[in-house]
Amino acid sequence: MTREGATLAIDWPALRAAAQTAARRAYAPYSRLQVGAAGLVRGGGDGGTETGEADGGRIVVGCNVENASYGLTLCAECGLVSALHAGGGGILAAVSVVAGDGGPLVPCGRCRQLLMEAGGPGLLLDADGGPRELGTLLPDAFTGSDLATRRDHRDG
Ligand code: THU
Repeated sequence: MTREGATLAIDWPALRAAAQTAARRAYAPYSRLQVGAAGLVRGGGDGGTETGEADGGRIVVGCNVENASYGLTLCAECGLVSALHAGGGGILAAVSVVAGDGGPLVPCGRCRQLLMEAGGPGLLLDADGGPRELGTLLPDAFTGSDLATRRDHRDG
């Protein structure tokens, strides 16, 4: 299904296919759960792309990378956000996260927070029943504006 965004057409099958390719490259010898993430980026970059163009936006990908010390595991979405910035930044408009079985996987809590910073509440997430807005999965999110308004401005 192709869904028309505000300024960007989202090719969900292409996005999910990119996530599936990334999942096959996951390093997950401990959990054996391979996860891939692919995001469509609005703005940023240098006009080029490492992984191809989709309807005018570049696609960035990530996969989970585990570690013998378990707690150092990097989720696929961590790699995705790193690739976003390393490739020139921009805003995530749509993201597909899939497990090794090819089906959508709803991001863990930590990664919802990561994606909020990179895409905001309007970011669309691939899901079995159709795309879901991140804001519905992470309501009342803590963001940079909370830092600006809530920090202590007293001297000393
Ligand atoms: N994982 C992700 O990559 N993203 C998520 O949103 C949930 C979990 C990975 C981390 C770990 O390598 C494996 O899935 C099992 O938790």
